[in-house]
Amino acid sequence: MSELSVNHLLGIKYLCKEDLQLIFETADHFKEVINRSIKKVPSLRDITIANLFFENSTRTKLSFELAEKRLSADVVNFSAASSSVKKGETLIDTVNNILSMKVDMVIMRHPNPGASVFLSQHVDSAIINAGDGAHEHPTQALLDSYSIREKLGEVAGKKIVIVGDILHSRVALSNIFALKLQGAEVKVCGPKTLLPKHIESLGIKVETNLQKALEWCDVANMLRVQNERMEISYFPSTREYVQQFGVNKKLLDSLSKEIVIMHPGPINRGVEITSDVADSQHSIILNQVENGVAVRMAVIYLLASKIKN
Ligand code: NCD
Repeated sequence: MSELSVNHLLGIKYLCKEDLQLIFETADHFKEVINRSIKKVPSLRDITIANLFFENSTRTKLSFELAEKRLSADVVNFSAASSSVKKGETLIDTVNNILSMKVDMVIMRHPNPGASVFLSQHVDSAIINAGDGAHEHPTQALLDSYSIREKLGEVAGKKIVIVGDILHSRVALSNIFALKLQGAEVKVCGPKTLLPKHIESLGIKVETNLQKALEWCDVANMLRVQNERMEISYFPSTREYVQQFGVNKKLLDSLSKEIVIMHPGPINRGVEITSDVADSQHSIILNQVENGVAVRMAVIYLLASKIKN
């Protein structure tokens, strides 16, 4: 396959296995580019990209911006806090105004699930979902799978446990779709209150005992407790959460084999993982960040080549 089956990246659930393969092979090329002394290619000199962030972000926004610049695209940035959204403008009006300025692609993070799907139905531009509420975060799942593939050779047949706040996590849902698509075995682990009711219907298993989950897996993807999305209390106290679902060095050392530790960031050190785990040789957290730029370059490049055709 030489082109993506989609014109937008709205969620992993719209992709096929071959799309993932193509994105990873293209990312291999860009990873080599970003490690050269001149980290830039002229591929997207004629493309203008708008980054629309209606929700806070550090890593994802920086990563997209770097990816765009390394492809030589023209970049405009927009953050909701300093925009006319605060004056009552609708999402479509905001975006149409931006598109009138001849923007070819929109990267959007938005607090409402489905916001990027909605946008793709109403504006004439390629859309990349950079996280829509608790729904999907496709580029995070792509960079996570890419990092597993890099570390363990392939994703197919590997055992991955996603630990923590599954209920509020777009990273969890996109990862489940991506990992299943590639033939990995997936479990989720966390307090029952933070596991969605029918999560097994996605073809995965639930394990509420962290030690057992870690003994089973090849990779543990540790998620942050998304306090900002909680209106009620889902567990008695942070101290109890840490005791049951936090990973520390002692726990890792007690396992019968070495496992890989991942985290999408931002880390709450001392909550989901301790510092000695985050900074240990088990952790591929900084590789994930590096790979994020290469994977986003690949996605932007592949979608832009569909605009040009
Ligand atoms: C995640 C997100 O925003 O969904 N972070 C990220 O994109 N790197 C996860 C989180 O906020 O915990």
